[in-house]
Amino acid sequence: MTKKKSFVERYQENDTPWEINRPDHNLIDFVSGLPVPVGAAIDLGCGTGDNCIWLAGQGFRVTGCDLSEIALDQARAKAEQAKVRCTFYQGDFMQSPPPGAPFTFAFDRGCFHTFEVPAVWHRFASRVADILEDNGQWLSLIGNKDEDRGDREGPPQLSASQIIEAVEPFFEIISLTRGHFDFDRSPAPLIWICHMRKRTI
Ligand SMILES: C[S@@+](CC[C@H](N)C(=O)[O-])C[C@H]1O[C@@H](n2cnc3c(N)ncnc32)[C@H](O)[C@@H]1O
Repeated sequence: MTKKKSFVERYQENDTPWEINRPDHNLIDFVSGLPVPVGAAIDLGCGTGDNCIWLAGQGFRVTGCDLSEIALDQARAKAEQAKVRCTFYQGDFMQSPPPGAPFTFAFDRGCFHTFEVPAVWHRFASRVADILEDNGQWLSLIGNKDEDRGDREGPPQLSASQIIEAVEPFFEIISLTRGHFDFDRSPAPLIWICHMRKRTI
């Protein structure tokens, strides 16, 4: 059996099919359409930083966190070119909280769903809650198990009930809707767009 490549290896080998080199339209639609107070934002598993850069352009103070130094170097170069200021932090979010907490808004595009074990989804959600201020919001874009891909490769997929079970102890779910990743190839993977607010009790 072939060993699954780590994210660090995937960036080294340029094997990053999720990259679109622009902010995901799901993030833009969300922030443009809802009252997310402009404040401190964190992009968990930010990759090469396009979503961070867009958020910074909207006035957020943005931290991007990722395992891959290669991805973060590219993110820094893109931010410099876009003339926006972001903090890019290399680290394992599951081991140590990124600097800059508490955040008003957390975003992840395909980071929460990378963990394959329910206990780890649960722990990820608990860690997101730990770094958010009271009533802080989290938008997560998550591969959707309702899509039958056959042999096609694609992102990990979760069911609605798996998401709910992992996040509900820490977050109220404001909406859980179907959508598609902003993607360069067709068909774009089916996703869950999960908008949550941190519980205060
Ligand atoms: C599917 S990629 C998505 C990257 C980026 N969000 C995008 O949309 O282009 C998942 C990202 O999460 C990062 N990641 C996975 N586990 C992580 C962890 N424990 N801490 C920080 N980053 C992590 C990976 O290095 C990778 O860049």
